[in-house]
Amino acid sequence: MCGIVGYLGNRQAAPILLDGLSKLEYRGYDSAGVCVYSDGELKVAKAKGRLANLSGLIDGGNALKGTFGIGHTRWATHGAPSDVNSHPHMADAGKIAVVHNGIIENYLKLKEELIRKGKHFRSETDTEVVANLIEYYYDKLQDFPRAVRRAVGQLEGSYAMGILCQDMPGTIIAVKKESPLIFGFGDGENFIASDVPAILKYTRKVVYLNDGDTVIFTKDKARFYDAFYDPVEKVPETIEWDIDAAEKGGYDHFMLKEIHEEPKAVKGTLSPRIRDGRVVLDDISLTKEYLQGLKKIYIVACGSSNYVGCLGKLILEKTCRIPVEPILASEFRYADPVLGEDTLVLIISQSGETADTKAALVEAKRQGARTLAIVNVVGSAIAKEADDVIYTWAGPEIAVATTKAFSTQLSVIYLIALYIADLLETIRPEEYRDLVAELMSLDQKIALCLTEDKIAQIRYYAEQYFNVHDAFFIGRNLDSAICLEGSLKLKEIAYIHSEAYAAGELKHGPISLIEEGTLVVAVATVEALFDKTMSNVKEVRARGAEVFGVTTEKFAEEIKKTIPSMITVPETHPLLQPSLTIIPLQIFAYHMALLRGCDVDKPRNLAKSVTVE
Ligand code: AGP
Repeated sequence: MCGIVGYLGNRQAAPILLDGLSKLEYRGYDSAGVCVYSDGELKVAKAKGRLANLSGLIDGGNALKGTFGIGHTRWATHGAPSDVNSHPHMADAGKIAVVHNGIIENYLKLKEELIRKGKHFRSETDTEVVANLIEYYYDKLQDFPRAVRRAVGQLEGSYAMGILCQDMPGTIIAVKKESPLIFGFGDGENFIASDVPAILKYTRKVVYLNDGDTVIFTKDKARFYDAFYDPVEKVPETIEWDIDAAEKGGYDHFMLKEIHEEPKAVKGTLSPRIRDGRVVLDDISLTKEYLQGLKKIYIVACGSSNYVGCLGKLILEKTCRIPVEPILASEFRYADPVLGEDTLVLIISQSGETADTKAALVEAKRQGARTLAIVNVVGSAIAKEADDVIYTWAGPEIAVATTKAFSTQLSVIYLIALYIADLLETIRPEEYRDLVAELMSLDQKIALCLTEDKIAQIRYYAEQYFNVHDAFFIGRNLDSAICLEGSLKLKEIAYIHSEAYAAGELKHGPISLIEEGTLVVAVATVEALFDKTMSNVKEVRARGAEVFGVTTEKFAEEIKKTIPSMITVPETHPLLQPSLTIIPLQIFAYHMALLRGCDVDKPRNLAKSVTVE
């Protein structure tokens, strides 16, 4: 996710901005830039790639003289990584400079209007639209704070922004909605930043801005305003963390931080693509005619992304009535698949760089299939190679074990399913409406899976089971597919031998492995199959298994008749239930790994992106 730093004081700004940005590198980025008020004008330096590229451009900051400015590390969402797309963005006449973290959902409409009003654009970004919108109002009002307020009032979406005006040296304005932004109180200097690590070296007195807040500050004074633009007093808090803890936002591990980011990541992926109750996919060009001729969908991926494909099979076949085959990328390439113009190959990859998946994509295109990628890293190899790409806006995922990227990939599957089913009219209008309504509340329901009570309950169960040697995950239908991911999490980070089986398959062999103390995680959220799964649980308990259950609140009492140890998740539309079921399984694996003294964020033998075949 992008990083913002702002400085205003008596010292040279550029070196402080570069230092602050270097403390935000862990957030992941693909370009960086600074803007400093120097010799009466706003001077910008920015570069694609690592921060060192930018630092080299300005001699470590010494080539850009000035005592106030803003800096940015960009995690591309709109527009591929490039010099011109990197921040800060200057407005057309060079009077306004902006750095931004977030997504402006109505930027295209605003851009069209601004072009009609004579503004010119250089980049593909939503942020440049904001800079020009502020400059447009500044030209009319000749008042920097009022211009910012008018412009921000027209923005839809999420933003944390630092803004400079060439005609108002010595003042920085910052605004915040949904994306994080803090204000740091210094002695004769003040700061803004996306996160504490950027300014911890200079001050520990900070304020976490609230949604709708605006701060207008100089080196000696800061005025805060709430969402109604009423002045508000902010009481600074003192950060006690060290720099390492600060990078994880106070969480012990990136994985835990990223699990807690799942509500926001899912919302950030879904909400820009649902407008007036309809799924709108501007990113792709799958026409009704093309879809009517579609005979098959392959879903090609590796690891957890493959398990999203296994879920995708059930979700897409149920809604679109098109045959769907999930297949491992490493197998697809050598399976001599039957491909053609009537085949859509859906490629799923968080990193967009997985070698097997990339090679499978090339093979699919060579054989004439249409390709659509679901990717988290903008401008990655797979994103560039596919005919169409839909980005998951999960932000950078640092932990090797995927969590929020998995959840956002699954969210995009829901969007694609509704998009296709709507065009093919294979879904009843009322079902479409129900699904869209549930998608809009999915982030809140995921958050309900992450309460302290829920986590404490899961941690308690992990304390009972962390010494097991083997674990089985069993479920049916969508629950069976989510067991694959729950099992992989346990393997990956807790190094426990774990297998996922369709519950109905146990009696065909695997049940011979059950012995006294074998851990069985039973996932039972599919209403029509609940009783059958409970029968399977009775079979394994009769053979000495320890069973831990996951079900919906609706079955909380019923499941206790068979499984005393269980966790419930809120209920949603059955097709969306996996987004909730996976959360306790992620938390369970996390605590099992902790209790076993494993390196949660960097598990042995694994890499975040497997760029070798
Ligand atoms: C998941 O926790 C693992 N890190 C791994 O299975 C991963 O999903 C797989 O390597 C695919 O990665 P990708 O999504 O970046 O292509």
